[in-house]
Amino acid sequence: MNAFDAIVIGLALLALISIVSTSLQVGISPMPSSRKAQQAIISAIPQNTEGLIFDLGSGWGNVIFPLAQSFPLATIRGIEISFIPWGASKIRALLFGPSNLVIERSNFQDISLESAEVVVCYLFPEGMSSLEAKFQKELKPNTLIISNTFRLAGWEPEDVITLDDIHQTPIYHYRVPLK
Ligand SMILES: C[S@@+](CC[C@H](N)C(=O)[O-])C[C@H]1O[C@@H](n2cnc3c(N)ncnc32)[C@H](O)[C@@H]1O
Repeated sequence: MNAFDAIVIGLALLALISIVSTSLQVGISPMPSSRKAQQAIISAIPQNTEGLIFDLGSGWGNVIFPLAQSFPLATIRGIEISFIPWGASKIRALLFGPSNLVIERSNFQDISLESAEVVVCYLFPEGMSSLEAKFQKELKPNTLIISNTFRLAGWEPEDVITLDDIHQTPIYHYRVPLK
């Protein structure tokens, strides 16, 4: 093995350790939404949506890039805590745009959602529970919440789309009720 090979393998190992350790800390890996889920999420959002669309835990960017292309009048904010997927999607956005996409490395619990028009997420049961109080406190009435796979316990979905895939994946649509 020469020095170049050793550096490449070392960097790959560091990236893997970073992804695995953050996944263990936050409770979920940066597993991307499928193409069918991306399409279902896009279809759930009204065509003329303006304002802010959040992806809470934007991973490698599999949802935020198509969202930014589909909703040019909106600003898409991807919030991702894991360094490697955040860095990869950030570099892609810096190189190729689109200009209505903002990607931040943060814990979404520390981000105010008050100005959101739409919130998208693909998390896990405990992650959804941890967001319920935040949604109730910060989101405006009628804000649309779209969750890939996982429900918001205690909330009645406005609609549930079942994907034609091997898991029959549900895509939940919720509206924030009047306070
Ligand atoms: C299953 S992936 C979904 C990625 C992307 N939204 C998609 O649908 O393709 C969930 C992502 O949420 C991120 N995540 C989990 N908890 C987070 C938190 N508190 N703040 C920011 N990101 C978080 C994880 O690092 C992971 O990349």
